[in-house]
Amino acid sequence: MNHQPYSTTDEAFLLPRLIRLEKNLYGAAFFLMKLLPARFILDSAEKEGHIHRGTTVIETTSGTFGLALAILCAQRGYNLILVSDPAIDDALKLRLEDLGTRVEIVRDPLPIGGFQGARLQRMAEIQNEHLNHFWPSQYNNPYNPGSYAPLAEMLVERLGKIDCLVGTIGSGGSMCGTTSYLRSVFPDLQSIGVDTFGSMLFGLPDQKRVLRGLGNSLMPKNLEHSVFNEIHWVSAAEAFLATRMLHKINALYMGGTSGAAYLVGRWWAQQNPDANVVVLLPDEGYRYQETIYNDEWLCRNNVWLSELPSEPKLIVHPLEADSTWSRIQWKRRSYEQVVDSSIQLKTLL
Ligand SMILES: Cc1ncc(COP(=O)(O)O)c(C=O)c1O
Repeated sequence: MNHQPYSTTDEAFLLPRLIRLEKNLYGAAFFLMKLLPARFILDSAEKEGHIHRGTTVIETTSGTFGLALAILCAQRGYNLILVSDPAIDDALKLRLEDLGTRVEIVRDPLPIGGFQGARLQRMAEIQNEHLNHFWPSQYNNPYNPGSYAPLAEMLVERLGKIDCLVGTIGSGGSMCGTTSYLRSVFPDLQSIGVDTFGSMLFGLPDQKRVLRGLGNSLMPKNLEHSVFNEIHWVSAAEAFLATRMLHKINALYMGGTSGAAYLVGRWWAQQNPDANVVVLLPDEGYRYQETIYNDEWLCRNNVWLSELPSEPKLIVHPLEADSTWSRIQWKRRSYEQVVDSSIQLKTLL
């Protein structure tokens, strides 16, 4: 694996704590996973001469990639403009602004492409106003998946054999990047991706989503479908309850995508007791104190659940997924290979 060596302080900042959650299940608990791609993308841009004195970094995000950029841009003295939407929480907005970021909110979704499309449109306008700008483009920049070599290396060094990696998918960077680095050592590694209902990444119709950080309304270039052996769809209520269990059982206070990945990873590890399973836990829980960790908010938003399903529903086609935890054996096929068969399925039914 070729990547730049990191110093010990960088490792503490960028790499996760590795925690044994069950006999054969390890959690890679990040302070902020997106620091890895944000840092690698900025480092590469500096080296390749895309960032100069006075360059404004411009990106569209309402999540953790924006926070990672804000932390790094503040440290490096770059101007940062983030285009976001009303789903951004006040605590994050305040934190970004404290780091010196200009946060611009778009108010209306596009009929096709939703808020993500509207954000991209507004970002293009701002880019036109700033000739000296750099766009990190986490959805399409190959340095996003390319930034996960240090994580894969750390996992191999610490755990030896790894049989299965489980994680959520938003841009696809973390799972596609880490899987491909790990497969250079363990070619038979099982890669299990976790998505949510209302996300079009694996063939479901694009709809409003309560669970944020995973899923997408547009297809990122960084998502390589043929990486995955299996795909799971988890509802917001299931992910939130699993997040709370991760806190109660393992004392890990993490965000909702960590809960979604933990639910799937724990089940997979129980089904395969001889396999060494690693689950990616992308961010900490403090940002979600008033939501995921607040029963009143969960009830008000209809996402409170008393019990988790004991197993996912096995389906053979994405269109069979309803609103509860489901899984498909993706078998490393392309999107077209799986979703084209939807036309067949629709006409067959
Ligand atoms: C909290 C959180 N978890 C998981 C993900 C998914 O990671 P990736 O974009 O690498 O697919 C994201 C993406 O933004 C995220 O913000």
